[in-house]
Amino acid sequence: MKRRMFCGSLAAAGAAIPASGQTRSLPLPETATTLPLASSDGEKRILAVIDRARRSGEVYLEVPVVDGRMLRVLAETANARQVIEFGTSTGYSGLWFSLALRRSNGRLTTFELDAGRAGQARKHFEAGGVSGLVKVVEGDAHRNVRQVTAPVDVVFIDAEKGGYVEYLQAVLPLVRPGGLILAHNIDMVADYVKAVTSNPTLETVFYMQGGGLGITLKKL
Ligand SMILES: C[S@@+](CC[C@H](N)C(=O)[O-])C[C@H]1O[C@@H](n2cnc3c(N)ncnc32)[C@H](O)[C@@H]1O
Repeated sequence: MKRRMFCGSLAAAGAAIPASGQTRSLPLPETATTLPLASSDGEKRILAVIDRARRSGEVYLEVPVVDGRMLRVLAETANARQVIEFGTSTGYSGLWFSLALRRSNGRLTTFELDAGRAGQARKHFEAGGVSGLVKVVEGDAHRNVRQVTAPVDVVFIDAEKGGYVEYLQAVLPLVRPGGLILAHNIDMVADYVKAVTSNPTLETVFYMQGGGLGITLKKL
């Protein structure tokens, strides 16, 4: 009988699979790191702000394009009605989420400590025509997270690294079963990785492009 071959299978290519099950990383197509094509005037307007914000330097520690695209795809796939973000900065990742929220008729609540960056974020959301979809909450997110009510569909943690576990504990009870908790710069938060990989009600995968993203599914 002929052996079935799987795309990307090292065994099929005759290579040995390491005992850890680790696989090689594959090269990205060039189009993975460029802005996506717009399918409507609304998308075009948001993507123009995304492009302009980075070119003009009106960003601060923003997610790379590959990650922004991933955030949008995950939120849109989850048909997210309520997205919570810790670490707005100037609204760059929020603009990516807004591409999904236009489709799902969802809302983003995003928390930022720095008043200047929160103000710039509001300007970006206004320019993208999505300020009605986004609420920027200024101040310490550890305190302000108490305003959040269930059900939450998607959480994005991208504020100070020492706070990730506390953010997780604060929102986890509010996330609906089947909801997602996304964490940026996952290589910098060992305590968070331990928390999401030692809980049997969670399933976490790691997307190690761009800044590295932990993608956690709340199973129950
Ligand atoms: C890495 S940046 C976020 C980048 C943003 N997600 C983007 O892609 O444009 C981290 C942000 O978290 C904010 N931050 C840090 N600690 C915070 C806290 N306790 N509450 C709210 N925001 C906080 C910082 O002021 C900073 O703007």
